[in-house]
Amino acid sequence: MKSVIDIRQLSVEEIDGLMEIGRDIIANPGKYSEKCRGKKLATLFFEPSTRTRLSFEAAMYELGGNVLTMADAQSSSASKGESVADTAKVISCYADIIAMRHPKEGAPMVAAMNATIPVINAGDGGHNHPTQTLADLFTIHREKGRFEGLTVGFCGDLKFGRTVHSLITAMERYKDVRFVLISPDELKLPSYVKNTLKEKEIPYIQTRDLLLVMPELDILYMTRVQKERFFNEEDYLRLKDSYILTPEKLVEAKADLCIMHPLPRVNEISVAVDSDPRACYFKQVLNGKYMRMALILKLLDLA
Ligand code: CP
Repeated sequence: MKSVIDIRQLSVEEIDGLMEIGRDIIANPGKYSEKCRGKKLATLFFEPSTRTRLSFEAAMYELGGNVLTMADAQSSSASKGESVADTAKVISCYADIIAMRHPKEGAPMVAAMNATIPVINAGDGGHNHPTQTLADLFTIHREKGRFEGLTVGFCGDLKFGRTVHSLITAMERYKDVRFVLISPDELKLPSYVKNTLKEKEIPYIQTRDLLLVMPELDILYMTRVQKERFFNEEDYLRLKDSYILTPEKLVEAKADLCIMHPLPRVNEISVAVDSDPRACYFKQVLNGKYMRMALILKLLDLA
């Protein structure tokens, strides 16, 4: 394992292995507190982030390592026109591993091709967000004890939601998983993701009606309508509040439904849902830190 750009690079067995490390970190944090002593993580974020950047940094500190951070493109030489390839070559002289977020799909892949150290994709445009997927998978497994046989509902912006694309790609490998895709017509899952489901004969339905399908769901993965990916403000304003999850809308939901959201949320989940024991989105945040710790260890050959 050298770089992780797409969740498909990780086999089911490798994901199991990372979750096992995650569980061991939770049970025995002291065992890991010096593992990355002398190592440096560079977080290169060309797009805003709270969770991903800070959880990577918290992960490295909790492993005893250090962090070099570039929190926005304007404060870097990218603003003077430096290429992603050159940036990756330069950072390879300073750090042992890179976590990169970029608004352009494929930029972390370009970085990985030019760096001499491992690169982790921390989100590239509307494409992929593999470490969020590791957080999501770990959350599902900790809550449900399995992946097989689950009905997973995705609701909101399925067109631009890179976390949705990554999680579907990861979950489609498990037996008897079924997807329920809930979105306005304009924000349906892209064909390239849907075509894979068709080719693999994985059952899915598309609907605009969240309440209609609510009783079937084991997982409800809410998403934000992503203002930054729209070309037209008018379309964003029309679609942004398509779905707002409230306690009333959960009346028909399963008692053990797991409600997830990669965050940040805007209006898609009412704050009143936070006290529902089925709300798992803040657990997802913490699980993300453990999985990023596990991935850093694995990529640095320290696990
Ligand atoms: N879930 C997620 O990627 O959050 P940030 O944009 O805050 O990193």
